Amino acid sequence: MTTDEIREKYLKFFEERGHAKIEAAPLVLENDPTTLFTSAGMQPLIPYLKGEVHPKGKRLVDIQPSLRLQDIEEVGDASHTTFFEMLGNWSLGDYFKKEQLAWCWEFFTKELGLEPERLYVSVFEGTKDVPKDTESADVWKSLGVPEERIFYYGVDKNWWSRSGTPDSMPDGEIGGPDSEIFFEFTDIPHNKKYGKDCHPNCQCGRFMEIGNSVFIQYEKQKDGTLSELPQKNVDFGGGLERISAAVGGYSDIFLTDIYEQAIRVMEKITGRKYRQVKSESADFRIIADHLRAAVAIAKNGVYPGNKLQGYVLRRLIRRAVAKIRQIKPDSAVDIIGKMCESFGASNDVGDVIKEEVEKFERILLEGARVVKQNPKIDPFELYQSFGIPYEMSLEIFSGVGRLLTDKDKKEFEKKFEEHQEQSRSASAGMFKGGLADASEEVTKLHTATHLVHAALRKVLGETVSQKGSNITAERLRFDFSHAEKLTDGQIKKVEGLINEVVDKDLPVTFETKTLDEAIKEGALHFFGERYGNEVKVYTIGDPKGGWFSKEVCGGPHVEHTHLIGHVRIVKQEKVGSGIVRIYATNKPE
Ligand code: ALA
Repeated sequence: MTTDEIREKYLKFFEERGHAKIEAAPLVLENDPTTLFTSAGMQPLIPYLKGEVHPKGKRLVDIQPSLRLQDIEEVGDASHTTFFEMLGNWSLGDYFKKEQLAWCWEFFTKELGLEPERLYVSVFEGTKDVPKDTESADVWKSLGVPEERIFYYGVDKNWWSRSGTPDSMPDGEIGGPDSEIFFEFTDIPHNKKYGKDCHPNCQCGRFMEIGNSVFIQYEKQKDGTLSELPQKNVDFGGGLERISAAVGGYSDIFLTDIYEQAIRVMEKITGRKYRQVKSESADFRIIADHLRAAVAIAKNGVYPGNKLQGYVLRRLIRRAVAKIRQIKPDSAVDIIGKMCESFGASNDVGDVIKEEVEKFERILLEGARVVKQNPKIDPFELYQSFGIPYEMSLEIFSGVGRLLTDKDKKEFEKKFEEHQEQSRSASAGMFKGGLADASEEVTKLHTATHLVHAALRKVLGETVSQKGSNITAERLRFDFSHAEKLTDGQIKKVEGLINEVVDKDLPVTFETKTLDEAIKEGALHFFGERYGNEVKVYTIGDPKGGWFSKEVCGGPHVEHTHLIGHVRIVKQEKVGSGIVRIYATNKPE
């Protein structure tokens, strides 16, 4: 069975069971201050899981391209990737455990033909606040899963939310206990590798998780407690790559048809065989994963750069280049071009990626020049100035006859770790600073951003368009096209318009429609091609006419403008030719 056939079967199976197929959200969400990439099928559905009515009904199915950077260090093994496709089905307050687990079982065993004896399941063992999930265990038993293949785990394994356990979830976050299903592989030697202590969540390679049914029924409250959502939801996610591996009987997802062509390209050009040398296998996988991810990101119109999504794209490409050069220097452009093609890159996308490869290779040449002039230079300095990793320094230094020693390596690692520490805290700050934060304060300032945008256009003219936005709990930052900084008079006018709307307490509502309809109604939108077919249009004021602001946006927003409080512009600067940046806050002086 091919991976494409699995895709089709999944959609059909759930459509036949009353699910409406919905468009996947773009991988890169424009206008969503809460996150860099879509990382789960449920992400665009959060408002509906919380109780909003979805226009397509209570049963939904889709296949969502997703990216998880938190797994990047694990890429290189047989089952982890940054980019993956998630098969997803949802019950928005409709069916629950009994139907979900039965369908999940039927899909895997009947539709895909996985042997029932190879399937293991896990359920939530409970906490003081959330009961042990004996209900799911009973359903599994009724489906014929013997007790010895049902495992109980705690919050670290069988609780799902976008940000951790019941304790670590921020307020407003939703989640619940889950029940996972695992496939046991027989293509790896069943020997001492795992002892009697091996269990489905053991990392030895015997088991691979292929699906997770999350029972989203709780919302974290400000006081730290969990409250029941108005409805009980099912959020199922299954990694397509892993499911395809299980169906093929491969304990290595990189042996599936998804990666087959790419791996072949690499084998052919490097003359090496995949899985012949263990350390090289990891490199093959990292290269294949990173390029597939890079293609998916670049397809969304992102260019390699030094910030946010662009930075991720750059890192993925450069990491792939570094790995390829270790195996075969001088073939990176060729290999990468062909591999990207195998992952469905158009010519344009392929060019964006190849340009970055060439740019990085020029940097390496520059690094080599610097080393030639100064063979004693510290390899860490090369890393800091040019982003050249240690492995590549080895190559450059040996070019001038300096062989780096273990001592050099240790020193590099020490400095690297210190540096990582610093950037980790910087990115943790960024995370806290709004990117992964849908707290009430951020939500207020997100609505305020729409007010700022509309007010700027009313005061400065319709040539004003949004160039960037970033929101923290403390302030909003808004970049827009305009030749000069605002005069004091203009600032007063903009603030006046915004606060008039705040005082009028206008409703904030949204409708789902096609992008064309949204544009026809005059909704502001950006980077049109990055939206899915259906978009949400948020209106401040009466959506039928006389509204103050209308924008295509994923939300979330407050329901009434008075909730925002008065807004003040606290700072402005020119950040590029024709781009002005303003900072505004709703906090009193
Ligand atoms: N939302 C669940 C996950 O991402 C299904 O694993």
